[in-house]
Amino acid sequence: MKQVSVLFVCLGNICRSPTAHGIFRNLVEREGLSDRIRVESAGTSGWHIGEPPDKRTMAAAKARGYDLSDLRGRAFEASDFAEFDYILAMDGDNFSVMQRMQPSHYQGYFGLFLEFSTQTQYREVPDPYYGGSQGFETVLTLVEDACTGLLEYIKKHSL
Ligand code: 4NP
Repeated sequence: MKQVSVLFVCLGNICRSPTAHGIFRNLVEREGLSDRIRVESAGTSGWHIGEPPDKRTMAAAKARGYDLSDLRGRAFEASDFAEFDYILAMDGDNFSVMQRMQPSHYQGYFGLFLEFSTQTQYREVPDPYYGGSQGFETVLTLVEDACTGLLEYIKKHSL
C-alpha cells in the first residue's frame, strides 16, 4: 500500500511545526490513516535539538485536546527532500532556507503550509515565540484549519 510522508517545518521546531505535527497526526489517526501517512516536524535552525516543545505551546495545545509531550526538536536536513513527499514551511523565511537546499529533481510538494488554509488573511503562521498567549491561540486556529485542508488534498492527490 502506498505511504505518504509529511514534514512540517518552522524555525525552532518547538512552537509552530510541533503544533502542526500533533494536530495533523490526531486528524490522521481519527480517520484511520496512521499506517498510510507518516508525520514529522523539524526546524531550519538547530537551536532546540532534542528539546520538547515550548511549554506555552504544549499548554495551549493540551487545552484543545492535543498532547505534544512526546515530540522532540530536530533540525531540517537536505536529506529530508529524499524522505518526504510533502515539505510544508510555516513562513517564507523557513521556505527560503529550505529552497537553497532543494535538489533540482525533487518531485514532492514543497510550499507554504497555509496554502491549504480556507482563510485568506494569513499567508504565513506568525511566530508566537516572543509574544503573548494570543499568539499561541492564533497558531492553533490557523494550523487546525490548514491541517483539514491538507488531509483533503492528500486523500485526493496522493492516497
Ligand atoms: P518556532 O518558534 O519556529 O515556531 O518553533 C520559535 C522558537 C524558538 C525561537 C524562535 C522561534 N528562538 O529564537 O529560540
